[in-house]
Amino acid sequence: MKAGRSLSRDFGEVQNLQVSLKGPGDYVSQADRKAEEIIHSELARARPGYAFLMEERGAVPGEDDQHRWIVDPLDGTTNFLHGIPIFSISIALERQGQLVAGVIYNPAMDELYTAERGGGAFLNDRRLRVSGRTKLSDAVIGTGVPHLGRGHHGNFLVELRNVMGEVAGIRRLGSAALDLAYVAAGRMDGFWEPALSPWDIAAGLLLIREAGGFCTDMDGGQEMFDKGSIVVGNEAIQKALLKTLKKPLR
Ligand code: IPD
Ligand code: CA
Ligand code: CA
Repeated sequence: MKAGRSLSRDFGEVQNLQVSLKGPGDYVSQADRKAEEIIHSELARARPGYAFLMEERGAVPGEDDQHRWIVDPLDGTTNFLHGIPIFSISIALERQGQLVAGVIYNPAMDELYTAERGGGAFLNDRRLRVSGRTKLSDAVIGTGVPHLGRGHHGNFLVELRNVMGEVAGIRRLGSAALDLAYVAAGRMDGFWEPALSPWDIAAGLLLIREAGGFCTDMDGGQEMFDKGSIVVGNEAIQKALLKTLKKPLR
């Protein structure tokens, strides 16, 4: 909440932020670093010794080798810097390599998504369930378009062409964490993205599972963190989406 307030303040002053270029199309702002600092110090105080994997700091080892926080302090940086209120903070907790808790917060809309392993997924107080649609032709599917200098643009165009020929609509929100939260909430029926990092997806993966959804990597396995690709949805949509993505170019 404290990190959310900090991001909200900075979002209001987005024009004044000093922006430094981390790489083509990938901005890092003062707001980003400030939010990460707040999250790091609050979590380290609440749970001393836990390890961290954070976007800006990278891996920070802890004395407790059973627990690790996986944090993206600002997911949707490009939106943030353009004044588009679709960005989030994503925090997940792993215990012995298994995701056990996840939080995604969109400060601009005051939407707090939470999940605990075995305890369900929630948006504020409301229990979440993935959508019930079973046909791709009824489905709204989210994705992430690879940025300049990132991902394989040719492969992505093949995937996009395959999917757009079979679905009701495609959305590109610009925050992978919120994409996953939206699938958990049944707002979108599925989502895929080929090149993501663990901090983009850790909390969202748990939300999806706890909302009754399914996730695989682009090869149909469970190596989402290592491969960086992800395909999610309810059981029927996830399967159909994966199959559609894999269709060879005709
Ligand atoms: C990005 C967002 C975006 C996705 C990119 C990510 P960032 O994270 O999640 O939706 O398409 O691949 O890198 O850079 O805003 O934290
Ligand atoms: Ca991110
Ligand atoms: Ca980020």
